[in-house]
Amino acid sequence: MNWNILEKNYNKDDYIKNETIFALANGFLGIRGSFDEGNIIGHDGTYINGFYELNDIKYGEKFKGYPSQGQTMVNVANTKRVNIFFDDEKFDLNTGEIIEYERNLDMREGILKREIKWRSSQGKIIRLIFERFVSFKEKGLIFYKYNIIPLNGSVKVSFESILDGGIRNYSNPDDPRVASTSETVFETIENKTLDDDLYIYQRTKRSKKEYGVYLKHRILKGDLTRKRYYSKDDSSSIIFDFNLRRNESVSIIRNAFYSLGGLNFKLFEYLKEKSEEAYENGYDYYLDYQKKYYSDFWNNCNVEIEGDDKLLQGIRFNMFHILNSTGKDGITNIAAKGLTGEGYEGHYFWDTETYILPFFIYTNPEIAKKLIEFRYNTLDKAKERALQMNHKKGALYPWRTINGYECSSYFPAGTAQYHINCDIAISIKRYFESTNDENLLVKFGAEILFETSRLWMDTGFFIDGEFRINGVTGPDEYTAIINNNYYTNIMVSESLKFSVYVYNFLKKNYNKEFIKLINKIDLMEEEVEEWINASENMFLPYDKKLQINAQDDSFLSKPVWDLEKEKNFPLLLHYHPLVLYRYQVCKQADLILAEVLLNYKFDKKQIKKDYDYYEKITTHDSSLSTCIFSIAANYIGYLEKAYNYFMMTARTDLDNHHGNTKDGIHAANMAGTWLGLTMGFGGMKVYNDNIYFEPKVPKAWKKYSFKILYKSRRIKVEVDKQYIKYSLEKGDPVNIYHFNKHILLQSSYKLKNR
Ligand code: BGC
Repeated sequence: MNWNILEKNYNKDDYIKNETIFALANGFLGIRGSFDEGNIIGHDGTYINGFYELNDIKYGEKFKGYPSQGQTMVNVANTKRVNIFFDDEKFDLNTGEIIEYERNLDMREGILKREIKWRSSQGKIIRLIFERFVSFKEKGLIFYKYNIIPLNGSVKVSFESILDGGIRNYSNPDDPRVASTSETVFETIENKTLDDDLYIYQRTKRSKKEYGVYLKHRILKGDLTRKRYYSKDDSSSIIFDFNLRRNESVSIIRNAFYSLGGLNFKLFEYLKEKSEEAYENGYDYYLDYQKKYYSDFWNNCNVEIEGDDKLLQGIRFNMFHILNSTGKDGITNIAAKGLTGEGYEGHYFWDTETYILPFFIYTNPEIAKKLIEFRYNTLDKAKERALQMNHKKGALYPWRTINGYECSSYFPAGTAQYHINCDIAISIKRYFESTNDENLLVKFGAEILFETSRLWMDTGFFIDGEFRINGVTGPDEYTAIINNNYYTNIMVSESLKFSVYVYNFLKKNYNKEFIKLINKIDLMEEEVEEWINASENMFLPYDKKLQINAQDDSFLSKPVWDLEKEKNFPLLLHYHPLVLYRYQVCKQADLILAEVLLNYKFDKKQIKKDYDYYEKITTHDSSLSTCIFSIAANYIGYLEKAYNYFMMTARTDLDNHHGNTKDGIHAANMAGTWLGLTMGFGGMKVYNDNIYFEPKVPKAWKKYSFKILYKSRRIKVEVDKQYIKYSLEKGDPVNIYHFNKHILLQSSYKLKNR
C-alpha cells in the first residue's frame, strides 16, 4: 500500500481534489489526474513549467515600484481527452453503472492506471483499462494507453481522440490564493489533422510564448472499420470505429509530444520527428526508462517507517510530487503548487530555497544546483527590480515570479518580504556545505551573494553601531511592514558572513575568476568591510521581561489574538489584513523558523522559551508552518507535539487538511515533511563542516530509516527503540557525529539507543 495511492471507488465529491492527487509531471510538463473521458465537475489541466501569459495588474491607486504586469502559468492544449462510445452511448462514470473501479498511482514507476467494469444503460458490460505516464526520458512526451473489452456481447466502439487547444485557466475572484479572472490567452497559429496524427501550434497573445503539441496514435489491436476527422479553430479530433465481439479487445496507444516554439524554430518538423521516434521506440521502451529513473530516485532517498503505513505512504507521496514538479533545467523552478494545479498562478516563491532545496541538496544535489542556477539566470531582473525599488545597487529577488520579474500585487505580504534575498543566499551556503561544489560558487553563487549583500547595505543602516533593517515583512504574513524582523536580521547576518567567506575564498583560490567578477560588478573592498561590520553588529530584538526573542520591534507590544475562541480559519479569508496586523497572531513559523534553519546558533533553553510563547499565537494557516514546529519541538524534547505536528504535515494533501488541494499540491509542505523526518526526528544538522545526528523514535513507530547524500557519500540512518545504525552506502569513509560522539563511518556502525 505504501508505494501506491489507491482509489477503490469513484466519488464525485473527491473528483477535483483527486485531479491534483493523481497528477503526473516530469518537471517540464504536468497533467492533472482528470479522467481521460472527461468529467463535467473537474478542472482539467496541462502545464508547461515556465510557460505563462502576462496580464495587467489593475490597481485603484498605483504607486512607484508597483509591478504593472502579472504572470500566470497557462493551461496548454489538453491531450488527455477521449470520448468513447459503445453503440453510440457515451462512456461516462456519472451515467450507467460502475460494477468495478480502481485507480492506482504507482509511485515506484510513476504510472497511473485505472481499471473499470461499467454497464451502459443499454446493458453492455465493458472492461476499460487506462494507463498514462509523463516521460522522464523525453521531457515533452506523454503516453496514454487504452484497453477496451466488451464482456457480454458484441458492441460498436467509437473512440474519439481529441486535441483541445481551447482550454482556459481556473479562477475564483474571492480567493486570493488563485487567479481572479480567466480569459482565452492563445492565438492558434496552426491546427492540422494528418493521417493518424493531430497537431496544434499556439502563441500566447501578450507574452508571445509559443508551444506546439503533436499527437500520434497506434492501434495495437482491434478491427478498425472507419476513421473520421473533425477540426475547429483551436481543436481537432479523430474518431476510430471498431466492431467488437464479446471478449475481443481494442488496444490503443496515444503519444503526445509537447515542445516550446520560438523564432526560426521548425516546430512542426521537430515535433513530427520526435513523435515518430517515440512511436517507433514504443511504449515499453519509455516505460522501462521510467522505472529505472524512479528506481534511482528512490534508491537515493527512500524512507521507511515501520508501524504506520498511512504515514509512510504520505511521505513517499510528497517526495514523489516534489520530484515530479521541479524544473531541472536551470531556467525553470518549482511553483508553490507544482505542476499540479493553478493555485498561486504557478508562481515560484521562497518555498523553493527554504523548504524544497534542502530536500534536493541532501538527496539529489544536481537538481538543487539547477534551482540555484535559475536564480542566477534571473539575477539581472533582480538587479533591475532593486533600482525600481530605489536602491542604488544590489539585487532584490521577486517575492513571486515565473520569469524573474516581480508580480506580487499586494506589497505588504509580497515585495516587502525582502527575506527572499537571504533565503536564496543561505540556500547557496547550505548547498556548498554539503557538496563542496566550488564550481557553483565561482560560476553562479558568488555573484548572487555579492549582489544580494549589497542590497542589504542599501536597505538597512547603522544606529549606535548596530545594523537595523526597517520596513520589511518577515515570513509570517499576518504581520507586515515592521522594523527588525528577527528572522530577516539573523538570516541576513549569516548570509553576509557567508558572502565575506566566499569573497576571500575566491580571491585566494580562484583569483582569475575573482578579478573578472569584481570588475564585472564593480565591487569595492570597502563594501565587503561593511558586510563584516553589519553582520557582526546585527540588531536582534529581545524582550528582557519575557526573556524571549522578539519577532520584530513592535510585535510584543500588540494585544494577543485569542485563538482559543477563534472559529474562522484561515483568518485571511475572514479578516481584513489590517485587523490581523494589529495583533500578536502568526500565520506561520517566523522566529521559530530562524531557530530551525540556523539551529547551530541557538541553545535549546532559548528555543524552548520562544517555542512556548509563539506556539500559542500561531494559527498554521499557512501549510509551511507545522513541519517547522515539529522540528523545533523535537529539538526541545516535546516529542508528542513533534509527532502531532508531523502527522498534520505528512498527509496535508492526501487528506486535504487545508481544503484546497483541488488547486494543487502544497509543495513546500511536502518537502517540509522530509525535513521533519530528517532534521526533526533524525536530529540532522550540518554546520562547521560536519554532519550531526540526534535520532529519536516516536512511540507509535517501531523503526524508521532515511538516507542522506552528504559530500558525495550516501549515509543511511536506521533507528529503532533499541539501536541506531549508520551505514555508508556509497563513497569514501566519512566523519559523522552521533550526538556529540565522533564516528568515522567506514561501512556501518551500530549503537544502543539511549
Ligand atoms: C505563505 C507563504 C508562501 C506562499 C506560497 C502563503 O500562504 O504564507 O509563506 O510562500 O503561501 O506557498
